Amino acid sequence: MRDFVFHTPTEVVFGKEAEEKIAARITKYGGSRVLLHYGGQSAERSGLLPKIRQQLTEAGIPFTELGGVVPNPRLSLVREGIARCREEGIDFILAVGGGSVIDSSKAIAFGTPYEHDVWELFEGKGKVSACLPIGCVLTIPAAGSEMSDGCVITNEQGWLKRGYSTQLSRCRFAIMNPERTYTLPPYQTACGITDIMMHTMERYFSHEDDMNVTDAIAEAILRTVIDAAPVVMHDPTNYRYRAQIMWAGSLAHNDLTGCGTVGDWATHHLEHELSALFDVAHGAGLAAMWGSWARYVLPENPSRFARFAVNVLGVENDFTDPVATALKGIERMEAFYRSIGMPTSIPELIGRPATEEEILLLADKCCRQDTHTEGHFKVLYRKEMEDVYRLANR
Ligand code: NZQ
Ligand code: ZN
Repeated sequence: MRDFVFHTPTEVVFGKEAEEKIAARITKYGGSRVLLHYGGQSAERSGLLPKIRQQLTEAGIPFTELGGVVPNPRLSLVREGIARCREEGIDFILAVGGGSVIDSSKAIAFGTPYEHDVWELFEGKGKVSACLPIGCVLTIPAAGSEMSDGCVITNEQGWLKRGYSTQLSRCRFAIMNPERTYTLPPYQTACGITDIMMHTMERYFSHEDDMNVTDAIAEAILRTVIDAAPVVMHDPTNYRYRAQIMWAGSLAHNDLTGCGTVGDWATHHLEHELSALFDVAHGAGLAAMWGSWARYVLPENPSRFARFAVNVLGVENDFTDPVATALKGIERMEAFYRSIGMPTSIPELIGRPATEEEILLLADKCCRQDTHTEGHFKVLYRKEMEDVYRLANR
């Protein structure tokens, strides 16, 4: 078991009444001039943004708006947000949307006081020491950014998708009303479910096998999401199951499922190159990669995969053959992805196989020109990254 620090300071306000006191919470966390940051049309259409504008106006809190965040949020809008915050003396950011909006908000929040260009941070060339406070109103359970310390931004110059993590950027509060997720299209619902599961699995596939509490929490989150998925796919306004998924999404990525273990994260970073190059949804990209990664790394520790197969997916344990049990688990996981409309290969993800040139480019970017490895369950260098991309390309 590894030593760990578990620090998750976000105030979670969950349920049907959660949106009622947003303005009061902004004031509580020191906001007096707000940037209201959001994505495309979904929050406008659902009536959420009009409701928030009304609350802020009634509370006498001045605000300025910046919409237009796209999935795989772009650096150019982050820079625009930073300029606006500096010009207008913004002291609080309210993110209304999903992981893309929250991540864009985080980058604006730590980019505003940062004296150099914000992209430096994503290149690992700097460190922040200040960050504007952020609150969020979550509309899609998926990325877990509402409680995480992470932020992922895409630089259109070179289509580089990179992350930066700092405790300073954790949301002060997260408003979560499962009813707001009723309008999610099935594809986005499924992408979110996949991401939630992957945040749990990235931490679960570890060689630390004495962290029973953490393992049991992770397995419960995975089983709960697997049970809830078919319900919400067919009955999108089912509050009870939408709620399970929403809460699971936060617990999956607020570090709870990583206490005492060391995470792998190779699938995530292999995927980030896919969503940077092909602009696909992050969750779909994860589903396309996971099975190939799993088969590739399985020999490192078959009994870990066998435990996953038995405890999460209900595979019967063949005690004489952990590899066979493990493989059945991977097959069952992929069948689950397919059942919710997720791809399990790159051709299914982008509608054609990637070219050999694209495979080489993906691996080159992922290993940052041979300066970087991925994964802990099995360490992947450039060649291994190419292997996994090729496996996923069949
Ligand atoms: O822009 P709008 O119109 O709001 O549409 C969004 C968007 O098209 C739509 N949507 C959101 N809520 C909705 C809704 N549509 C109808 N009804 C609603 N209630 O859903 C689409 C996807 O939204 P997005 O925010 O992109 O999804 P997600 O939360 O999956 O975020 C993905 C981003 O988060 C990053 C991913 O890489 C990706 O860039 N991640 C961030 C992490 C973090 N900060 O800790 C960790 C993750 O592993 C991940 O990498
Ligand atoms: Zn993710």
